[in-house]
Amino acid sequence: METIFSGIQPSGMLTLGNYIGALKQFVELQDEYNCFFCIVDEHAITVPQDPKQLRKNIKSLAALYLAVGIDPEKATLFIQSEVPAHAQAGWMMQCVAYMGELERMTQYKDKSAGKESVLASLLTYPPLMAADILLYSANVVPVGEDQKQHMELTRDLAERFNKKYNDILTIPEARIPKVGARVMSLQEPTKKMSKSDTNNKGYISLLDDAKQIEKKIKSAVTDSDGIVKFDRDKKPGVSNLLSIYSILEGKSIPELEEMYHGKGYGEFKADLAGVVVNALAPIQEKYFLLIDSSELDDILDEGAAKANRVAGKMLKKMENAMGLGRKRR
Ligand code: TYM
Repeated sequence: METIFSGIQPSGMLTLGNYIGALKQFVELQDEYNCFFCIVDEHAITVPQDPKQLRKNIKSLAALYLAVGIDPEKATLFIQSEVPAHAQAGWMMQCVAYMGELERMTQYKDKSAGKESVLASLLTYPPLMAADILLYSANVVPVGEDQKQHMELTRDLAERFNKKYNDILTIPEARIPKVGARVMSLQEPTKKMSKSDTNNKGYISLLDDAKQIEKKIKSAVTDSDGIVKFDRDKKPGVSNLLSIYSILEGKSIPELEEMYHGKGYGEFKADLAGVVVNALAPIQEKYFLLIDSSELDDILDEGAAKANRVAGKMLKKMENAMGLGRKRR
């Protein structure tokens, strides 16, 4: 069985973009792969976080992973900071990465733009992400489109390490969904839907209730021609809504275009709101059952124990390859 690794930052309530681009794929893949799913809290602190809120977000993200359907019998769910090998291997990957390539990362450029002071870790974030993946010898990494550049860097760093030291790291492939890899903001459909958007009408949170969802979809920015048709360049708003509909309802885009032929945006949006509410309702129900349960802690304890065993072994191999410490038997 091949191995999958993926991670999500606990930096706020997840959006429909995180669900469609990442979580939904995770659930579909857990039967076919040996899966490791991580709550990457060390990545979250590359921007300021309130410690109390971060703790809450970590628990909340763990509950959401399970609520969407991650089965702890099939997949390993754990918190990054509970597996120290990540930070250790992250440092080692920094020692094979060049400043120039890190400065070229668009996420770094976006997040640091216009800021007077930027944490060093915002720059060195991608080598930590590479370490996350490489510690588990992951073959496949399911992510949304925005992580493509980080994945290319991960491959470059792994190849460089293998050439320079010893051929021990598996070169991973990104798995980016064909539709829904980049769910866009409902208010500015040329920007990705993001939980850090200051306008909360731009995103649907996975815990939004039916009323909020209906309101947000109703006020989603479209265009004035009134035709439900996919055209990313000319009709980004409608195309985004069509992608969301298509993924959640399992209907192709041409099928949807046909269904709404001659009908206006009002009916299309009302139906889409129903589709989103129906998709999120069972997730929300499970989430509220799980959030305060002791089951959650047991699952995370077991996940950390397993992840520590696997990552610890690879860390030793990496240390041996680089000549760190003493060779152990
Ligand atoms: P993060 O926490 O920003 O997002 C988690 C996942 O959700 C996807 N995503 C989206 N997909 C479609 N449309 C959107 N609008 C959208 N917004 C977010 C992201 O692509 C991602 O798959 N660097 C990563 C976390 C990470 C990681 C890893 C991922 C750390 N280590 C190792 C994979 C493997 C990040 O910031 O994701």
